[in-house]
Amino acid sequence: MGNTAVKRIGVLTSGGDAPGMNAAIRAVVRTALNKGIDCIGIRRGWSGLINGDFVKLDSGSVGHIINKGGTILYTARCPEFLDRKGRAKAIATCKMLGIDGIVAIGGDGTFRGALALTRQIAESGYKLPVVGVPATIDNDIGCSNYTIGFDTAANTAIECIDKLRDTMQSHERCSVVEVMGRHAGFLALYVGISVGATAVLIPEREVDFDRDIVEKIRSARLAGTTHFMIVVAEGAGSAVEIGKRIHEEIGIDPRVTVLGHIQRGGAPTGRDRETASRMGYEAVNALLADRGNRIIGTKEGSIVDLDMEEALAMVKNLEMYRYEVLEALTPSGT
Ligand code: F6P
Repeated sequence: MGNTAVKRIGVLTSGGDAPGMNAAIRAVVRTALNKGIDCIGIRRGWSGLINGDFVKLDSGSVGHIINKGGTILYTARCPEFLDRKGRAKAIATCKMLGIDGIVAIGGDGTFRGALALTRQIAESGYKLPVVGVPATIDNDIGCSNYTIGFDTAANTAIECIDKLRDTMQSHERCSVVEVMGRHAGFLALYVGISVGATAVLIPEREVDFDRDIVEKIRSARLAGTTHFMIVVAEGAGSAVEIGKRIHEEIGIDPRVTVLGHIQRGGAPTGRDRETASRMGYEAVNALLADRGNRIIGTKEGSIVDLDMEEALAMVKNLEMYRYEVLEALTPSGT
């Protein structure tokens, strides 16, 4: 049964930005407007909801953004939203603006905020469903195989590392590159396989320096390789520290690169634009179908929406099979 009560949707982006967020905003706005629903953009994430920082969105205001990185709504992390008082102000803003459904685009922190908000709304007896759309370069949302931004970030990192490889090869050097990913190694392992890394350090696998670095470099050397590419997930350690240790224990002089926020920028890939478009579309459908508080996700290529409480209790484990692939493809000599 449709939820005829939804007349105005508030859409926001929160937490670390991810390429494809704009495509998701566009999808939400265009889908809503085409169904006769108003759209308000909440700026600067949850803090915008607390402070009443909003902008009216029409079809034209989301034109020419599908190809743009970043987020036209700005984003922020909002400690005040962790507090009941902050969330009460946010609920008051929704009442004031006549918002009767929210689409929150972001990652883990955004969804924790959404969950706390939905619980507080339920206590007050007010009706205001919230739907989360997963967008983070970390790909660390348990209920979704894929999160918007991952593909673009991975390709950015791959392009940078390919460039590093050219100069490492010329100088016969070792490169240690740190990639983002927060507490997860999804990005690092994907990138590591794609660049043909000598070794990849990820938080899901305890780092043994001798086994994971010394032995890998020794083996590659024996196979005739004269340059080495070590990819370090930020959650597994610091590339600077790993570089120092390589220098001290192996006696080679590596070059360290921390890719940092460059991984979060740039035009979204086709995969991120297309996934964001489908997710934004389904987020509005979930609100209009009165399915309550949901998180959008991908499952076997399809878009699904799951109960928010259940979705946020789900855990996604990195497939260690991918690590086996990495290892099976590295040069080894005896
Ligand atoms: O969650 C996205 C992410 O880019 C992580 O990979 C990284 O650990 C973090 O955000 C960096 O956050 P900030 O932009 O606050 O430095």
